Amino acid sequence: MQYTWNDLEQHIASCTQCPLCRSRRRPVIGRGNYQADLMLIAEAPGAQEDQQGIPFVGRSGELLDKLLLECGLDRAEIYITNILKCHPPGNRDPKEEEKRACFPYLKYETFLLKPKIIVCLGRVAAQRIISPDFKITRQHGAWTHRKDCALTATYHPSAILRDPSKYAIVKEDFCEVVKKRVEVNR
Ligand code: URA
Repeated sequence: MQYTWNDLEQHIASCTQCPLCRSRRRPVIGRGNYQADLMLIAEAPGAQEDQQGIPFVGRSGELLDKLLLECGLDRAEIYITNILKCHPPGNRDPKEEEKRACFPYLKYETFLLKPKIIVCLGRVAAQRIISPDFKITRQHGAWTHRKDCALTATYHPSAILRDPSKYAIVKEDFCEVVKKRVEVNR
């Protein structure tokens, strides 16, 4: 029997693998196109995402959509998910045990999607997916290749909300992602 998106969704919806299941309103499962070649991985759902059960619906999400559109990318053609599927209270950093408990879901998402490109949004995702000592300030926009997948990282949209001068940097990183997309689909 093949593990399906539907199985994954049901497992996440009823997950009790870490204490966040007691404080969450709704788990936030990745969203987007199941045929996407491009996967974005961020940190964890915020308060608005927790209410709606959808990734990036708050201010960071608005900003992300704007950035994507300016680079010619549409949310409907990509897949967006988080390291944690449940909101950490007060938006604190995910704890190690929460990341460990949630990681199998991300593995399944990646297995089902088989993306050609993964973009980590922010330090937490980059350190979990690319390398534990990843420095977003120095290494954003750099590419790593693993099997048939190209990986990179850029700042999280919330970092732009705190420091608008990062907008141009993230936009440049996303424009490179668009170029990479053409390259990997050639
Ligand atoms: N921030 C994240 O890291 N993920 C979301 O889904 C929303 C905000």
